[in-house]
Amino acid sequence: MSELKRTRRLRKYEADDNLGRPSHSNPTTELHSPFGPQIAKTTLPTAVIDRLNQSIDPHIDQNKSSEALLSAEAVFSGSPSLASLIEEQISHYVKEVEGSEVEHIEFEVFWVVSQYEDTPSPVHFHSGDISGVFYLKEPTKIDPQQYERNYISGRKAGFINFIEGNKQRFSKSLISFEPRVGDLYVFPGWLLHGAEPFIGEGERRSVAFNANIRIKPD
Ligand SMILES: [Fe+2]
Repeated sequence: MSELKRTRRLRKYEADDNLGRPSHSNPTTELHSPFGPQIAKTTLPTAVIDRLNQSIDPHIDQNKSSEALLSAEAVFSGSPSLASLIEEQISHYVKEVEGSEVEHIEFEVFWVVSQYEDTPSPVHFHSGDISGVFYLKEPTKIDPQQYERNYISGRKAGFINFIEGNKQRFSKSLISFEPRVGDLYVFPGWLLHGAEPFIGEGERRSVAFNANIRIKPD
């Protein structure tokens, strides 16, 4: 009979106890927000953003919203390649939120979403374990009134909105980020997100990806 042992595999579901922040209103209190999915934000190098835009521009309609797959060459070529930069961020993310080492990353797809004014991106989730989105272009001129237009629960026009759960008293369920060129967000593939249409000039161009990961055994 092989040896039996207890494991701590469920540890990845336990939050760190060092996530507290000082209360804004009461200096003797700190607040902890330990539950729920985590979203990593970082910035990709400008040279990589420029390279991708150059490769995408000829294949994108410059006047109307569209989507297109990113070519394998755009993903895997160049130094550093887009794939290597994303792999690095995924590995950091998994290490940070779960304490695990990633052994292998398999990308399913990278795709470009080019949006002009009045184009919604309805709430959705992705396939795969881990997903991400980064921005290649941002609208140049948005009517400030429209930009500040709030949808239900503070979702701002053109922002990316991550949603987890419903309205629950004393619990957060939504966060919005303004799309800025170079900004990359990494998040669990199951996390709901979407964007409300903006009114203004210019293109909101993003690249999204899905990946599956294999964790190194303990
Ligand atoms: Fe998405």
